[in-house]
Amino acid sequence: MTANDCERPVPFATEIQPRSGSLAESTADLLVLPVLSGDGGPAEVEGVAEGGLTQVLPAPLGDLFAHYSLTGKPGELAQFPVPRDQGLVRLALLGVGSGSPDDLRKAGAALSRAARGRERAALAWPGVGGDAATAFAEGALLASYTFSLKTAEPPADKRPAPVVEVVDPGAGDLADALERGTRLAAATALARDLINTPSMVKDPAWMAARASEVAADSGLQVRVWDEAELERDGFGAILAVGRGSSRPSRLVQLSYTPENPTAHVVLVGKGITFDTGGLSLKPNDNMSLMKTDMSGSAVVLAVLSALSAVGASVRVTGLLALAENAFGGDATRIGDVLTTYGGTTVEVLNSDAEGRLVLADAMGYAVAELAPDVLVDVATLTGAAKVALGTGTGALYSTDDALAAEIETAGRASGEPLWRMPLTEEYVETTESRVADLANIGTRREFGPAGATDAALFLREFTGGVPWAHLDIAGPGRSTKESGLLSKGGTAFATRTLLRWLAER
Ligand code: BES
Ligand code: MN
Ligand code: ZN
Repeated sequence: MTANDCERPVPFATEIQPRSGSLAESTADLLVLPVLSGDGGPAEVEGVAEGGLTQVLPAPLGDLFAHYSLTGKPGELAQFPVPRDQGLVRLALLGVGSGSPDDLRKAGAALSRAARGRERAALAWPGVGGDAATAFAEGALLASYTFSLKTAEPPADKRPAPVVEVVDPGAGDLADALERGTRLAAATALARDLINTPSMVKDPAWMAARASEVAADSGLQVRVWDEAELERDGFGAILAVGRGSSRPSRLVQLSYTPENPTAHVVLVGKGITFDTGGLSLKPNDNMSLMKTDMSGSAVVLAVLSALSAVGASVRVTGLLALAENAFGGDATRIGDVLTTYGGTTVEVLNSDAEGRLVLADAMGYAVAELAPDVLVDVATLTGAAKVALGTGTGALYSTDDALAAEIETAGRASGEPLWRMPLTEEYVETTESRVADLANIGTRREFGPAGATDAALFLREFTGGVPWAHLDIAGPGRSTKESGLLSKGGTAFATRTLLRWLAER
C-alpha cells in the first residue's frame, strides 16, 4: 500500500441536489415523505403528497401513519412499494421530529442509510428552515461515508445512492443551506480519511505532506519543521516523544488570513500517528485503535481547509504536533527530563502520557510567537475522559467562561455534545515533579485518578494566560459501529463544532 491509495478525489459517493417542483414529478426510485411529530401524534407536511402522488398511495396518509404506528420521531421509517410510470418504486415515510436541525440531521442519516442500493432518493422538503437543511445535508452525507481497503466492491445493496434530491416547491435559500452542510461534511470526511489510514502509511512526514497538499488546495500558508529544525528551534517535547520511532517527528503550521481579521485564534491538534505507549507499553486491547491518536491534528487540518468556504472572518493558525510514540532503543526513558519550547522542564514518569507533551511544545510556541487572542487544543488525550463521559460526549475544559459557552453552543448546534469539566484548583499539585518543573502524570494519588483533569491542568501551564479551551475527544473520537452519522473508525468529532464556532465568531 502506498500513500496515494488513501486519497480520494470526491469525498462522498452521494451528491445532494436541491430541486424545485414537486415529488410527483420525480423520477427517483426512492420517494420520501417527511412526517413531523406533532403534539397530537404524527403530522403530515401540508402539500407534500399532492398531485400524482396521492393517487398512488395505498391509503390516505393518516391511515398509513396508524398502520405503521408512526410517531414522526427523527429517523423513523416505513417503506412500501408504489406504482409509477417506470414500474414499482419505493416510497418511504421518514420521521423528521420537530423539524429542528438536530432532528433533520438524524433524519438525513436515516434516509441515506435507507437509500443504499438505490439510484436516486428524493425527499419532499418539509420547509423547516436553512439551518435544518444544512444539518440534513450533514446527516445524509456523513451516513454515506465509508472507509474501506477491501479488495472486493461492496455488495450492491450496501452502496450509497449516488444522488439524494431535496425537492422544495419554493427552493428559496435551500441550495445555499445544503451547500454549507456539504462543506461541513466534506471537512469531516477529509479528517476521517486521515484518521482511518493505517499507521504503516501514516507517519508524521506523511501527515505533513497531506497538510501541505490541503494548504495548496485551500489557499493556506504552510510551514513544516523537520527533526533538524525542531532541534534547532527547541521543540524538546515533540522530539522526545518521537525519539523511539524510526519515523521522525514533524510540526506543521497552517495559516488562514482573511482581510481585516477580527481576532486571532490558534488551534492545536494532537498528532500521534501511532501510540504504542512507548516504554510504558500499552497492553494489546488498548493499542488496537491507536492509529486514531492523531485525530486532533486531522480535525485541525480539516477545519483550516474549510474556513474560507464557510466565510470565517477570524485569522486562524493551525498547529499539528506530529510524532509516533514507539519504543525503539533511543526511546525516552522513564525518569528522563525534557525541555519544552520556552524552557519548561518536564519529567516523563509515564511515556504513555505523550499527548500532553507534544501539545505543550506547540502551545508554548503559539503563546510565545503567534500572539493568539484565543487558544484551543483538540486531542484524544485520556482514557479517563472516555470513562467519565462515554463515546457520546466530549470533555471540555476552559479557563474562560464565555469561550466555553461559545464552544458548547457550537457543539450543540453540530450534534457534537461537549460537557464542561472543572479545572479543580486543589489538584494542581498533582503536576509537581521532584526534579523538574512539571511531571507528565498525576503524582498525588490522594486526589484520586482524575486523569482527564490532571492532563488539562498540565496543559494549562502552557497557556500563558491566553483564554484557552481544551477538547478531550478520546471517547467520541471513534466509533465501533455504523450508526447515525458515524462510520466505523474515526469520527472526526469536533470538526463541525469548531467550524461553526469560527464561522460565527
Ligand atoms: N492516546 C491515549 C488516550 C486514549 C485512550 C485515547 C483511549 C483514545 C482511547 C493517551 O496517549 C494515553 O495513553 N493516555 C493515558 C494517560 C495515562 C498514562 C496518564 C491514559 O489515558 O491511560
Ligand atoms: Mn498514550
Ligand atoms: Zn496518545
